[in-house]
Amino acid sequence: MTRAISLHSVSKVYGRTTRAVDRFSLDIDPGEFVVLLGPSGCGKSTVLRMIAGLEDITEGELLLDGERANLLPPRDREMAMVFQNFALYPNMTNRDNIGFPLSLQSPRQDSSARVEATARMLGIEHVLDRYPSQLSGGERQRVAMGRAISRRPSAFLMDEPLSNLDSKLRNHVRAEIAQLTAELGVTTIYVTHDQAEAMSLGDRVAVMRGGVLQQVSSPRDTYALPRNVFVAAFIGTPRINLLQAVVYAPLEGRMSIDLGRQRLPLPEPLSPDHQLLRIQQGRKIIVGLRSEAARIAPPSQARPGEVALSGIVEHMEYQGHEALVHLNTGSQPAVVPDLESPRLRAAPRRRRGRSGPGVLERLRDRAAAHVPGRVPANVSGPVVALDDPEPENPATYTPDRPAITSSDLVVRTGPDMRLRTGAQVPLLVDLAHLYVFDDYGQRICPAPMDMPGIDT
Ligand SMILES: Nc1ncnc2c1ncn2[C@@H]1O[C@H](COP(=O)(O)OP(=O)(O)O)[C@@H](O)[C@H]1O
Ligand SMILES: [Mg+2]
Repeated sequence: MTRAISLHSVSKVYGRTTRAVDRFSLDIDPGEFVVLLGPSGCGKSTVLRMIAGLEDITEGELLLDGERANLLPPRDREMAMVFQNFALYPNMTNRDNIGFPLSLQSPRQDSSARVEATARMLGIEHVLDRYPSQLSGGERQRVAMGRAISRRPSAFLMDEPLSNLDSKLRNHVRAEIAQLTAELGVTTIYVTHDQAEAMSLGDRVAVMRGGVLQQVSSPRDTYALPRNVFVAAFIGTPRINLLQAVVYAPLEGRMSIDLGRQRLPLPEPLSPDHQLLRIQQGRKIIVGLRSEAARIAPPSQARPGEVALSGIVEHMEYQGHEALVHLNTGSQPAVVPDLESPRLRAAPRRRRGRSGPGVLERLRDRAAAHVPGRVPANVSGPVVALDDPEPENPATYTPDRPAITSSDLVVRTGPDMRLRTGAQVPLLVDLAHLYVFDDYGQRICPAPMDMPGIDT
């Protein structure tokens, strides 16, 4: 049996004021694989624990197969939970670890056939008579999975089950989880802070921030149509380029987006999306460009819909199959609070003991000062502008380490491209891939319900 799980405006308040989860609503179909994604502390585990019955629901309703289940005891929910710290009983063989929930469920029945079938499914038959301490991390995690699935639960709840594995193994077990849950057809809710993991696993991804659900959509829509600047910045590697800008819409003449030192002219006739920008005239907006929306090429090579910019090379990041070019285009990056590790300027390694906080420290403080729960539902909050960045003082860096750079745009290029730091390069920006967010971070372009540039 597999379950439909619904949360209707569910909140969790710890003590008097800590709103760990704020009016969270989500309907999950039987057999669906939904990922809860968000930075650490955003309330993912709390949602999962409320579904499992390990945490009381302060407000709202949990429905299992359409029936209110707020007060249903955990064991009657028939769900299996897999945690990051998959605690196996060290003095039991792996066989007994897997069979343990079965022996609790029906003590008199011989469970060995079920245990062996489960082990076969997971490829761990050969370790059944060993003890957990004799296994590798990946095998141990599979035994833990085996324990979770042996009693055929109605749903899997997985809380960062792979974070203790090294990255190679993580990818391997991740593929196994996807395959296994698809085979079993069991409703699965999977918690992670890793966007790549979420995108590769989920039928749908639910992005959370500060206890508030931001967006629920397929991985593809989450990437292509982020509802707000937080989702846009949280999803995708390298992180989307976010620039502060102003719409310039003269009564006569061409409309453009002012990026500070350069302008993006909007092609005429204006697309319906770009027409929407007219009412933003003079207002602050945030322009979002994913790294694939801009390329290094001269204006003569512009395709329809591409406009020219230029940038100064700050540094190159070699990635093997490609290189990332960090450029300065003279604009101000927009910084989104609450992202776990904001990609600001290139990683600074400052000496200790300098007087006063640096740009990064100040931003981190501002992000920390953001109080979860105060965010209005589905509004990502005003975007913090990185104004008057501290002038760099060469004396504050150790000589062998890179200084903070002021790149505001990262674009991809072939791995063999050699660009000198300080060189000016021509860029072409594809306006079909232009995102525009208002001052509160809500996406205004592409207009909601529109899917430009996505061939289905
Ligand atoms: N038992 C608790 N008492 C008080 N605050 C808690 C408790 N558990 C979690 N919190 C707070 O609730 C928020 C959400 O926590 P959690 O659900 O664990 O986040 P995540 O799993 O996304 O990292 C955090 O701010 C955390 O400090
Ligand atoms: Mg957690």
